[in-house]
Amino acid sequence: MRYIANRSSGKQGYAIAAAAQAAGADVTLISGPVDLDAPEGGDGDAGGNPRATCWRGSKPPCPPYIAIFAAAVADWRVANEGEQKLKKSETALPPLQLVENPDLLATISKPGEKRPPLVIGFAAETEHLIDNAKAKLKRKGCDWIVANDVSPSTGVMGGDRNTVHLLSRNGDDIEVDSWPVMTKEQVAVALIAHIAEHLLTKSLQANSEQANSVDSESIEDNSAEKPA
Ligand code: CTP
Repeated sequence: MRYIANRSSGKQGYAIAAAAQAAGADVTLISGPVDLDAPEGGDGDAGGNPRATCWRGSKPPCPPYIAIFAAAVADWRVANEGEQKLKKSETALPPLQLVENPDLLATISKPGEKRPPLVIGFAAETEHLIDNAKAKLKRKGCDWIVANDVSPSTGVMGGDRNTVHLLSRNGDDIEVDSWPVMTKEQVAVALIAHIAEHLLTKSLQANSEQANSVDSESIEDNSAEKPA
């Protein structure tokens, strides 16, 4: 009845889940309350958490290889959720105590065995978009950040279009790839295509490294067999 929330339609995150599902990925979508239908072919499940609902694609869940954090998570929540409606008082405003919500992206990005190999965050900014997004990429420890300007004049919040910049790490540098204005569905498809390309490049690199190490092992073996 009375609550504090971040304003967000969820359209971009749902579009990404649908694009990943259409590309053949096993998708688990974790969502706050939005007025959108989950992609077809999955099961709804509240997962016991009143603050999030969880939807799974048709395939069984597995440890995530790619985690994408598109949600505009509220930074704070009220410390004490009331059981009853707050009534107005003529003498004083109600005290409002806030506690910080856990930072999901920063937590999942921490190095460790359970870290997904590719963690992608979003940066919702209203000023200094690229500089703030670069700082966020470093601070959160994720691999890529999709930065978007969410100032009211852009119409991104709740709208159907988005203009994004994909920031990725390249050694100590951060590369910025600026995309043209697109619908949120087009951004989603482009992001999934970019991820697929990245995975393909990584697997080709891994194959060629493996082939090189097999080659150098066999050269060592051959030279060991030769008489001195
Ligand atoms: N995020 C998160 N948990 C939070 C807050 C944010 O996982 N408690 C994630 C968002 O899903 C997004 C990224 O962190 O992928 C950046 O969110 P954003 O709202 O742009 O930034 P904040 O972390 O809230 O920082 P600030 O408000 O200072 O810009």
